[in-house]
Amino acid sequence: MRSASATQIFAQRCAPLLAWALYCAGSLSFAQPTGPGYVEAAPAAAAPAAQVTPAADVPSGEPAIGQRGQQPAIRFDVVAGDLDHRIDRLLEQMTLAEKIGQLVQVYPNNEALSEEVADRVRAGGIGSVFYPGNRAVVEEAQRIAVEESRLGIPLLVARDVVHGMRTIFPIPLGQAATWDAELVERAAVASAEEARAERIDWTFAPMVDVCRDARWGRIAETFGEDPLLAGELAAAMVRGFQQEEDGRVGGVLACAKHFVGYGFSEGGRDYNRVSVSHADLHNVMLPPFRQAVDAGCRTLMTTFSEVNGVPGTAHRELLRGVLKRDWRFQGFVVSDWGSVTEMVAHGFAADEAQAGRLALMAGVDMDMCSPAFAKHLEQAVREGRVPMERIDDAVRRVLRSKVDVAGRPPRPALTAPRHSSLDLARRVAARSAVLLKNDGALPLDAASLKRVAVIGPMADAPQQQLGCWSLDGKPEDSVTPLADLRNRLDGLAEVLYSRGCENTFSGDGSLIAEAERVAAKADVALLFVGEGATLSGEARCRATLDLPGVQPELVDRVVATGVPTVLVVMAGRPLAMGEQIERAHATLYAWHPGTMAGPALGDLLFGEECPSGKLPVTFPRSVGHTPIYYNHPNTGRPRPDDYRPLFGSGRADLPEQFQYKSHYLDEAPTPLFPFGFGLSYTTFEYSAVEPSNAEFTVGDTLTVTATVTNTGGVPGAEVVQLYARDHVAGAVRPVRELKGRRRVTLEPGESRRVEFKLDCRILGYFDSTGARVCEPGEFSIGIGGDSTVDLAATVRLLAKKTQLAPNLPAVNPTAVSPALVSPAAPTRH
Ligand code: NOJ
Repeated sequence: MRSASATQIFAQRCAPLLAWALYCAGSLSFAQPTGPGYVEAAPAAAAPAAQVTPAADVPSGEPAIGQRGQQPAIRFDVVAGDLDHRIDRLLEQMTLAEKIGQLVQVYPNNEALSEEVADRVRAGGIGSVFYPGNRAVVEEAQRIAVEESRLGIPLLVARDVVHGMRTIFPIPLGQAATWDAELVERAAVASAEEARAERIDWTFAPMVDVCRDARWGRIAETFGEDPLLAGELAAAMVRGFQQEEDGRVGGVLACAKHFVGYGFSEGGRDYNRVSVSHADLHNVMLPPFRQAVDAGCRTLMTTFSEVNGVPGTAHRELLRGVLKRDWRFQGFVVSDWGSVTEMVAHGFAADEAQAGRLALMAGVDMDMCSPAFAKHLEQAVREGRVPMERIDDAVRRVLRSKVDVAGRPPRPALTAPRHSSLDLARRVAARSAVLLKNDGALPLDAASLKRVAVIGPMADAPQQQLGCWSLDGKPEDSVTPLADLRNRLDGLAEVLYSRGCENTFSGDGSLIAEAERVAAKADVALLFVGEGATLSGEARCRATLDLPGVQPELVDRVVATGVPTVLVVMAGRPLAMGEQIERAHATLYAWHPGTMAGPALGDLLFGEECPSGKLPVTFPRSVGHTPIYYNHPNTGRPRPDDYRPLFGSGRADLPEQFQYKSHYLDEAPTPLFPFGFGLSYTTFEYSAVEPSNAEFTVGDTLTVTATVTNTGGVPGAEVVQLYARDHVAGAVRPVRELKGRRRVTLEPGESRRVEFKLDCRILGYFDSTGARVCEPGEFSIGIGGDSTVDLAATVRLLAKKTQLAPNLPAVNPTAVSPALVSPAAPTRH
């Protein structure tokens, strides 16, 4: 590793102060730079050669477009003024190579910083590095950037801190099952703290892709299928990661990804094409991103996939149009890993150079780990194919984020997770588990148990319980269910353990006989099955959704011993395991709970915590059900409610009333478990829904209430959900949509009135032209504990069709100001 001499460092440190003094004395009137210009590339022939002037102070001697005369550099930490002023001044001094350097992100070697990367950082040729798992590497890279590069612009150090850094929280799909934004925010705060201790400035989270297909391995990283829930949790995570105060980021920069549509990868196969209607794009995929942006999210990442024929990394309409123009996004956009050059493989760019130009001109500001920007943008500017205004706009956006996080005192290094983070992780994991079935086997009573059988490949799998994004989580920190149960039952009951099969997808059934023997000796069998962490996440897609390997046989044979059997499923996706769930006495669906899986699950199994998780995704009965989601359209031929499939009916054909309807012959059309579903150790009852008015208009706020009562014997928390249906609209609307949720904790016998505010913004939608509208007509509303609630109340919007301004914040249950709305073009309604 090369380092600067003491004289060099002295010169670099002191020169800026001198320069600053000269600068202030001599010239206070730099020309204002042009605004964020999305100027089309001039043809090559019109190259602005006259603007290219050599710069004396640029070591490589390359031309300094934008360089102001020969003045010495005013470095990043010295330049003063308000944010924009500081950035303008930096920009004015930067050479073209330095500007492009800010737009380049690389992944350094984990062992030590290579000479090559060190030299590039020193020359201002890199704007961001990944944290490769070694703090010393990024500290050295950062030191070179700040002390030895001409302008001392720090690097942004980035890492995928997705559901935890050292303390691993449940996977995002599990966190979504808490339906608890406050908890999700607190988990992000704890993760940001741990990330900062490793000198990380920027995380690639939250992932806010909506997903309806459990085959896609990355469903584990999503908040599930509902845009409202995903958006609210995305905003919470952004707040938690960034911890913004007075406009400055106290935590780490967040990155909402993958803009946009990735969750709809065709066939549930990763990186596949995305073909999406305008309605789904605007009503389902974009809103969670909008929520993240409204929460102040500093960065966004593009999707690998092509969206309706255009790779997300070159999607001008979405990046420049929707995100930067309509939503006024001021942060920067980073491509996904190599996705710029992948546009050649997509067949969208002829070569790396064109791919770089297309990405930049579409609105990508930073190139993650592809050579396109670093190798080709300079030439493109010189040839007039990329305008300087676009480069400046991108650099300005990146520098703004750097000002946000620069100069903060480093946090002390962590040697182990803090107790407070582990306690929080236990809490989040306990709240994320969803009780899918309970015939009375749960909760367990330790006093009445002599022997407990703990069986299954996930019972003692410290790495697998962490889930797909646990780069920095350590299996030695994990408390497994087996470890917790041994500890918890010490002196009370004997714990008998059998792995049952080598791993979750093993085809070798030779360990099952031993598991049967162990189960037969016990009072209860706790069966920890599912999918190991490596079966979900990026490029971990499945063509089937069964409980994999020999686990179905393991479940069958343990259940057949006659010992009450509780399934605890750890998985990164909904599994179509209806048969096993039916046979078992109880099923707790725990996702990948993270470091504190054992204590969290123990708390639930023994009733110290009452289950309150609710499904953030619909569970299919079989893989053929996918995509399956609760907010689907009705179709012109909906199936009758009493529909029964032909197979297994004993008939030769369907009865007439079932023919030519939208269903399957060989599978029940209803999901295995509906969106929003989750049992508790207590029960809840709902009163009728009461809207404050039967009619409302634009600008009105409607209050809708229902009373919830804990009708069981123990205290419990319920996620109260409000669903609405717009019956007739200018574009087909779903049969129901989640429009609000509240978590209430109730003692046995206690009742609570739960109130929701609705307005035309919440009940409106994006029509087939992408316009945001409210339309007159009837809405049905229901409040209950899952998405099958009866929509028994009716309200009527009286206003004329009204178009809402595109920059109106996404969803926020407050009244819409009449100033923000305007009448829309009439439609046939
Ligand atoms: C590719 C993934 O798609 C993205 O989510 C991740 O943030 C980057 N790699 C960086 O690791």
